[in-house]
Amino acid sequence: MKRTFLGLLIAIIPVLVALGFYREMKTLDLGNQPPGVVKATAFDAKAFVQTTCVSCHGADLHGLVGPDLHKKAQELSAVQIANVLKNGYNGDMPKGLAPGHEDEVAAYIKTLANTN
Ligand code: HEC
Repeated sequence: MKRTFLGLLIAIIPVLVALGFYREMKTLDLGNQPPGVVKATAFDAKAFVQTTCVSCHGADLHGLVGPDLHKKAQELSAVQIANVLKNGYNGDMPKGLAPGHEDEVAAYIKTLANTN
């Protein structure tokens, strides 16, 4: 009985070691990717904006019922845009559209400042 237990322990150790190694490899893999790639797999702000904001801000984000976001990107800071996403604006811009991703979406909107 004692022997079987010991044998089991010895058999389990390499499995545990292999699992730990595998997990470490996975994190290392992520760490080695360029930042853009990690963002794209974790949360794609551009794709999110294309599905969530275009209905009101227009297919090219140049404005529809909501204002031109290229212009707003020039007027507002990333922090202000993140706050608009969190709290809404003036009753017409809905709040909570990007829960947990306000900063990423705001950073993407800011990239529109230099484009027409
Ligand atoms: C239901 C329609 C609707 C959707 C969806 C929507 N917006 Fe808006 N948004 C508006 C309207 C309307 C305004 C203008 C409010 C005003 O000025 O009174 C606005 C204003 C804004 C402003 C400017 C606020 C300011 O301070 O002038 C920003 C930035 C903005 N929206 C970003 C976004 C982003 C990013 C998304 C997608 C995550 C989004 N909006 C989705 C309707 C919408």
